[in-house]
Amino acid sequence: MSYSPTPGMGQAMTPGPGEEPPPLPPEYLVRRPRRLRSHPALRRLVRQTQLTRDDLVLPLFVVEGRGVHSAVSSMPGVFRESIDRLAETCQKAEELGIPGVILFGVPEKKDPEGRQAWLPEGLVQRAMERIASAAPGLLRIADLCFCEYTDHGHCGVLTPEGDVDNDATLENLELQAASLADAGAQVIAPSGMMDGQVGSIRAALDEAGHLNVPILSYAAKYASAFYGPFRDAADSAPAFGDRSTYQMDVGNSDEALREVELDVKQGADMVMVKPAMPCLDVIRRVRERFDVPLCAYQVSGEYAMIKAAAAKKWIDETRVMIESLTSIKRAGADFVLTYYAREMAKLLR
Ligand code: PBG
Repeated sequence: MSYSPTPGMGQAMTPGPGEEPPPLPPEYLVRRPRRLRSHPALRRLVRQTQLTRDDLVLPLFVVEGRGVHSAVSSMPGVFRESIDRLAETCQKAEELGIPGVILFGVPEKKDPEGRQAWLPEGLVQRAMERIASAAPGLLRIADLCFCEYTDHGHCGVLTPEGDVDNDATLENLELQAASLADAGAQVIAPSGMMDGQVGSIRAALDEAGHLNVPILSYAAKYASAFYGPFRDAADSAPAFGDRSTYQMDVGNSDEALREVELDVKQGADMVMVKPAMPCLDVIRRVRERFDVPLCAYQVSGEYAMIKAAAAKKWIDETRVMIESLTSIKRAGADFVLTYYAREMAKLLR
């Protein structure tokens, strides 16, 4: 067996004049992981994580009006659109091969309870109907929460002390879920982090005859600073305080497993970890413990950071987009909600 040490790396082992060469490479060079990286085609063969268009869900913001297509300044490439423009966007998303969209309504009228959220003629309800005819093959997911609908910007009804009243909010979530499913939402995604929300929504959906409408639960949703740009887009920043009495503390991950367990017991068909890149460890732990489909939300702040750094030419946007989405999948997510869905789908075409 002949052995020539890699120049540089094997220097110490190079035989001196008159010395016998060592019969075998040093132990640390018997396995050379670089062999499997030596050819692009070989790298393709051994790559474990593949992104496909089937991994993508596109979040969309809907507003009242006609012909509205207004840019969200902190999220380049993201728009708030009236229903007519949204329908066109959905058609294009379907053509790109994106499986689904998740809708956020930004209503004009707000009140302390967020009543616009469950009106049969509500903004998202009308949008659902329109998308169903414009892009019938696209899965219509409805985000279920009140922060866009309440005048105080919290995710439910308030107690006299100004905290969110969990159980009173559940009743409203039931109304909202049934109303959206009636309007053609095909997946209900509660994001308010109220205790018991999955169970009560499941019961309400079943009661309304929507036995086959699955629940995608935002099971482990952190009180994250990465939602900042979303709150501009959805006009949903809390008027006072923050969301730390209902969203999870960033320092915890055992708690995420308890949250997921509760939601699965209450009937969640799919669960979500949010945000994504700051929570890759949580995604991995949930993946290892539970066998329900798991997704992650690459949230507004993650997107905005990439966009901002790319605009300064500090990073290569396309490569960072691919790397961030691949990492989220590698951590264990089956699919990803991402504002990059269109750009990524174009690349994967
Ligand atoms: C709540 C909701 C939020 C996001 C999705 N659903 C905001 C919040 O909890 O304040 C954030 C998504 C993002 O940042 O992209 N309805």
